[in-house]
Amino acid sequence: MSDGAKGYRAAILHMLEEDRFEYFEDGLLVVEGGRIASVGAWDGRADLPVTHLPGRLFTPGFVDTHIHFPQVDVIASHGAQLLDWLNTFTFPAERAFADPVHAAEAAEFFLAELLRNGTTSALVFGSVHPASVEALFEAALARDMRLIAGKSMMDRLAPEWLRDDPAVCRADTEALIAKWGSRGRLGYAITPRFALSCSPAELTMAGELLAKHDHVRLQTHLSENHAEIEATAEAFPQARDYLDVYDRHGLVGPRSVFAHGVHLTTRNFTRLAEAGSAIAFCPTSNLFLGSGLFDMAEAEASGVKLGLGTDVGGGTSFSLMTTAAEAYKVCQLRGHTLSPLKAFYLATLGGARALGLGDKIGNLAPGSEADFLVLDLAATPLLTRRLAAARSLEEKLFALMVLGDDRAVEATFVAGALAHRRDPAFQT
Ligand code: GUN
Ligand code: ZN
Repeated sequence: MSDGAKGYRAAILHMLEEDRFEYFEDGLLVVEGGRIASVGAWDGRADLPVTHLPGRLFTPGFVDTHIHFPQVDVIASHGAQLLDWLNTFTFPAERAFADPVHAAEAAEFFLAELLRNGTTSALVFGSVHPASVEALFEAALARDMRLIAGKSMMDRLAPEWLRDDPAVCRADTEALIAKWGSRGRLGYAITPRFALSCSPAELTMAGELLAKHDHVRLQTHLSENHAEIEATAEAFPQARDYLDVYDRHGLVGPRSVFAHGVHLTTRNFTRLAEAGSAIAFCPTSNLFLGSGLFDMAEAEASGVKLGLGTDVGGGTSFSLMTTAAEAYKVCQLRGHTLSPLKAFYLATLGGARALGLGDKIGNLAPGSEADFLVLDLAATPLLTRRLAAARSLEEKLFALMVLGDDRAVEATFVAGALAHRRDPAFQT
């Protein structure tokens, strides 16, 4: 083992495949040069420095497949469903992100909050202003985070002060892709906000950029709320349905992530699966905004790629543990179930695959980028008590997901380096 390798002895859990995991009750994770060097059972080796952390569970960092950076001040806004919520709370808050100073301050907060909750990668919406994503990329680069983001494209529906137009939007997006699209661990996502906020010309331009730049991704919203779906049908009368609006503009493909998809038909799920697109299931948002109950059973049957999204600020938590617990409850209301290991997969490797990053992050396989968490299994008195009574790994994992949140994230490592510690006393 060469100089600089570092070992961590603790329980370790990660997914190898959707239905295959590795668990070491007394394991050793070796990190070197920002990557995972090895993972396995503790073997008593003495050729490298090892930190022993009993009572902790090491996992890959969480992946949030849908979140809005300019909505940190919108979270927990009372009393509206999607379209009113956008007009009343969200658009006014996003207006402030034209100011680079405000955007820089919010970016620091936003990334610190992600890391505090154990999220090491995310697919992020910026506001319409290039300054918002500039600030976010700048702050993510300084933290060496693997993050994908894009400036919202919106040339209609929103107030005049929050709109772009296709020519300006194309130029701004091209400049952002050129500057940030391949820098450090960052990536760019073409971000038509949703069909309603885009003219056909804006969507056509989005499709052209997606086709032109084969390393960028696409993120948007799809079939979230009934009033939104009706308005979309009126705005795009030629389209067969909401998904077809995007399909007609070349936006449905293997690099696309669609948030929500609460009210999709079986045909829609099949089309998304065929195209290799992903859906970001955002349960806290769907419940909070009263949007509806995502049909996990249909999604599973179709084979579409799936991840979990917090959708802050429509969503109510930055925590993927809380989000997984709410996903479980949505499934309960739909009459099916979500296993703890499946939920864990969605929050880690499934999310990474949804973002096209499954070969880099999402598990602790040797060679992966070393984004990982130290979860404290005694984070709260209730968690300690419940875990003491748990007999299987699945039971433990489920209790952790239902009772755990940012309090259980004792430390977050990004590219092998400590990026967050809950307690100043935490030593690596
Ligand atoms: N649809 C269009 N914009 C938004 C947004 O900011 N949040 C959510 N949840 N849905 C949207
Ligand atoms: Zn959203």
